[in-house]
This record gives sequence, C-alpha cells and structure tokens, in this order.
Amino acid sequence: MVIYTVKAYTGKRHLAGTTSLIYIQLRGTEAESEEQNLNPIKGFWQGSEREFKIHCEASLGELIAVKLHSKPLMGLLHNRWFCDKILINTPEGDEILFPCYCWLDCKERLVLRPAKASLVFQDTNPIAQRQRMRQLKEQQKLFGFVGSTLIQVGWRVYAKGTPQVIDCDTPLTLPAEVQFSYTKETEFYSSAGKQLAALMLTGLANSRKSWESIHQLEAILCERVKTIEYCQEHWDEDEFFGYQFLNGLNPMMIQRCSTLPENFPVTDDMVKDTLRGSSLEQEMEKGNIFLSDYEMLDGLVGNVVSGRQQYLTAPLVLLYCNPHGMMLPIAIQLRQQPSKDNPIFLPTDSKADWILAKIFVRNAEFGVHEVNFHLLRTHLLAEVFTVATLRNLPSPHPLYKLLFPHMRYTLQINIMARKQLISKDGAISKYAGVGGKSLEKLLKRATASLTYSTLCLPDNISERGLETVPQYYYRDDGMKLWDIINKLVAAFLSLYYQHDEHVQKDTELQRWISEIFTNGFLGRDSSGIPSSFQTLKELIKFVTMVIFTASAQHAAVNSGQYDFGGWMPNYPTALRKPPPKEKGQTTEDAILETLPDVGTTVNGMAVLKLLSKDSADHYPLGHFPENLHDEEVPCKLIGDFQKDLRELSDLIEKRNKTLELPYTYLNPKNVDNSVAI
Ligand code: FE2
Repeated sequence: MVIYTVKAYTGKRHLAGTTSLIYIQLRGTEAESEEQNLNPIKGFWQGSEREFKIHCEASLGELIAVKLHSKPLMGLLHNRWFCDKILINTPEGDEILFPCYCWLDCKERLVLRPAKASLVFQDTNPIAQRQRMRQLKEQQKLFGFVGSTLIQVGWRVYAKGTPQVIDCDTPLTLPAEVQFSYTKETEFYSSAGKQLAALMLTGLANSRKSWESIHQLEAILCERVKTIEYCQEHWDEDEFFGYQFLNGLNPMMIQRCSTLPENFPVTDDMVKDTLRGSSLEQEMEKGNIFLSDYEMLDGLVGNVVSGRQQYLTAPLVLLYCNPHGMMLPIAIQLRQQPSKDNPIFLPTDSKADWILAKIFVRNAEFGVHEVNFHLLRTHLLAEVFTVATLRNLPSPHPLYKLLFPHMRYTLQINIMARKQLISKDGAISKYAGVGGKSLEKLLKRATASLTYSTLCLPDNISERGLETVPQYYYRDDGMKLWDIINKLVAAFLSLYYQHDEHVQKDTELQRWISEIFTNGFLGRDSSGIPSSFQTLKELIKFVTMVIFTASAQHAAVNSGQYDFGGWMPNYPTALRKPPPKEKGQTTEDAILETLPDVGTTVNGMAVLKLLSKDSADHYPLGHFPENLHDEEVPCKLIGDFQKDLRELSDLIEKRNKTLELPYTYLNPKNVDNSVAI
C-alpha cells in the first residue's frame, strides 16, 4: 500500500469556496487511483488549503493527470468551486504541482496536467497525448457558440479589413475564467456609475453651449494630478506641444525628416527666425528636423456630434530639435494638399492662429492615438494573441505558461469596448469627431499600415530615426523594458526548444502563429509578420513583441489618457468648425466656438478618466498571481525577471526626480501584465 498526499488550494476570489462534493482521481503511467470523495464535511472555503491522503495498492508510476469531479451535496446543494492548484506528494518523494485556476461547476469534470512544461512531441505517453488533444478541442469549443450550440470556431470578422475578434457578443458568454473578477467588475461599474452621477449632478452633461473662456474649464477638473496641472499651465506652449510627441500619450508618430514631403512646401524664409540663421537643409543634414504626418486621416469626414457636424484634418507638423534638446514645432499645415486656402501656420503668426493650428493637430492626435495606437495596436492585437493562444496551445505548452498572465481580462475589456465605446451608441461615436463611419475607415487604414517592424520597439525607433533624440524617455525606458522581456523570453524558450528543428516540428506552435498571421494580420505578407517559425531566434523576437505589446506598449498609450486628455484643449475629442483657410482671422471666440461644447467636453473627460483608472485587482509586470511553474530553472528566471524590473524601476524613479514632468508610464510598477482596461 502506498500513500499520496494531496493538498487542494481554493482560490481567494469572490465565492471561490464550495460545499459541493469534490471527487479526485490520480492518473499515472502505470495505473489510476480510485475516485475518492474529498471529505465534504469541512467544505472548501475561499482561500483555504486542505490536505488529504489517497491510498493506492501500488505506485501509479509517473503522474500524468489529476481528474476533479463535482457532485451536489445530498443530491441537491451545489455551488461551483474555484480551485487554484493541487499539490501532490508521491510515495517516491516527489512533489508535483497541478495548476488549475478554473471554476469547477456541478457535474463537471476537470483534468489537470502537471506544471512541468512540455512540447507536443515531448509529451510521449499515449494517455498524456490523448489528454493534450482533448484539452485543445475543449478549449476551442469554449470559444465558439452559435445560439446555444457549442461549435469549434472562435474567430469573428468584426469589420472587413480589420483584425478578427473573439466570437462573443457579451462578456457573460465568455468562460468564467477569462471574465472580470468580482472585484474588477464591481469596481469598474461603480467608477462608471460615479462618473455618470457626477456628470448629471453638474448639469453639464447635456449642455450644448460653448465654454465662455478657457479658464472656465478649471472648475471641472475633479482630480488635480501633477500632469493635468502641468497641461493646464503649459498646453498652449510650443515646448510642451513638442514634448508630447516624445513623451506624451502618443510617442509613436514623430520621425526624423531628411527630405521635406512634396506636399509640405515649407521655405527657409518661413522658419529663419526659429532656426536662427541656419537653413532647413542644414538642420536636416544635422538630423535636427522631424515630421509628424497625419496622412492616415486624409479625406475622412467628421462625425456628427449632438446633431452638429464636426471637422477632421490630416495635418503635417514640422519640428526642430534645438541646441537645448527641446523639440519645437516650426510649421503646421492642416490639410494634406498645399493650396492658397491651406496656409502653413508658423509660430510667428498671431497667437490665436498658431494656437488654433495646434488644437487641430491635437484633435488629429486623438484620432490616430485612440484608433490606431491604442485600440488597434494594443487592444485588438492583444485579443488576437489571446484567442490564438487559447485555441492552439494546451496548458502544458511552455508558451501557454509564458503568455498566460498577459491575457488577463483582455477578452472582456475588448468586448465591452466594442459594445460601449466604438459601437453606434458608444462613447466614441457620441463624442468624438473621428467616430461614426470614419472610425471603421480609419481602423481599416490603420490595419493596412500594420507592420511587424513598427511593433518591435528597437526596429521602430531605428526606422523613425530616433536613436539619438535627447529626452525621449518613452524610448529610453521602453528599450530597457524590451531588453528585460527579451532576456526572460530567450532564456525560458531556450529551455524547451534546444534546436531550430524543435521549433519547426512544434505543430501547436505553428498553428498558433498561422492563426495570428491569418486572422489577426489578415494573411498580409507585406506586414512582415511571420506565418510560420523556422528558428528559435524568430520565435523569441515574436514572443517578446507579444508580451511587450500587451504590457509596456499598452501602458505607454493608455495610462496617461486622463493626465494628458483631462485638460480638454490639449486633447479635444471633436472640433466644431472647419480649419481656417487664411491667416489673421482667428479670435479667442473662434477658438472657443471650435473646441468641443460643454457637454461633449465633460462626457469625454469622464470616459478618459474611467479608461485611465487602475483596478485594485491588477498585477504589475512580473507579478504573476498564478503559480504555473514548479521547475527550478523557470522559477529562477522569473525571479531574475522581477529583479531586473525592480532595478529598472529604481533607475526610472531616480531619473524622474530630476525632471520637471516625470515620465512614469513605463516604470514597471505602473505597467500591467495585460491589456485589462
Ligand atoms: Fe486601454
């Protein structure tokens, strides 16, 4: 007779405990144990750890699986159980972890695999192989419903020419494990409710009036954090306008300019004062001239907000990095085609002309930032990676384990965004100039522009010629984070893929990347996204990009939405007047008539605030609440990863003490593991 000691860990989440009967059966390479009822009297309470003994006639061999089964107490009383993990001490003296992190409902069965990771061709035991295939089939069924029938699908075309999405209309039809936790759900809706109530109380939410002065906006700033106050004080200054191209909400647009675009005929005469005697050509040669081109918005028609037409522009902005390292705008053309009624605005124009030109640029920023850099390049891509992972990688796959923390809440937040932000009645459609029909067009254009290199920070920085630009903290912190993630990914994957042939013959991995290429990047070879992997090096780079996108990149473009957008003139969601056709006509009143009305302003602010808010149930990069590994080396690699992140955090905090406006968004402490808001 031999004894197996079983420890069962009930999760700490809301209602994780159960009074249902839980049965367990151990499956080994040699035999399986009897199904044993785990003592029902004490129940499995939230956060509890309980120990049991399982007696077997002889050793079961190498443990392959643990089967869990739930039945109602006395045939009647049942409630589901959230099991975190099962830990088993074998008669041979081994301790084997079986991660679970799933709900077990009444009359359901769960089969858990050991934490030790394995590739499909390493899982050689026939029982283990069958179990692996069965698990994948079940995963795929979980992500596809037609009516009440489960089918093996999972992807859905959201709009032709954009990445496919999870085939679910409501978070309620998602498997419980990937839904928001109770804490996150209640907190999210309570914040949204409070925002709405506050808006109604102010009586401003439905006001169609223009602001009487910019100062009037001070009264509605409910939270005065440092960056918002900074925006309020400096929003109309060139230095801050230029700073935001590097370290604002969207540090992704600016690029070095070595030749002026033909449709942007800036002359030396126009910029001679700013360049202090130097010429554009000379400064371009020195690498001091930069461009931000919003061509992607060209020809898009503005939305109708509260019954009123709004106006979009597709500006070109020329910037100069001066000898003090300040990035300064030196010319702005608001529409793409040069003409007499499309003047090039200059800092030497009247103050009102120049400010209004910059306001149109900031509104263009709203469109490209929210739709391209935030929605598409972080949220929708993270969803693509999540769906492909859940459909193609079973839990013993090392890549599944590596990516698991980076998928948390992504499916639910994206379903909610599709319903409540970008749907016909959503906030973007209601309050943004880029909403309505133009939104889908912009999303399609943005998808067509997606390339692998723009998603990989080192390549992206070098393509944009920004390697040596001073005071580019997004780049400095981001590159360090990229390297730290890359180090973990390389060391972790090298443990399992010892040769390139291992990569080539991993059929699960090849299906994973094939779905990403086909469903996410629409099979576009020109995107540069691989459709298969031939080498470990290719795989390491791609997985680094996946984790960087879901964590760091999302933090960089998401977390500052209220910081930079809370002061509306710095990030107007919609503009009510067309761009000026000639200089010298703009007045302060014209600016106020162009900016969003009172109602659009406060509603826009409320949405930005909600989307910038951290949940109590969030985990910074490297903090992995689920215990998925029990092998020595992976555990050490995670420890090293956490140490690297702490050191980077210290470095960033030290640097930030020297800055007038600290750059905090890529401090690992402020970066979530996943796209969760
Ligand atoms: Fe977000």
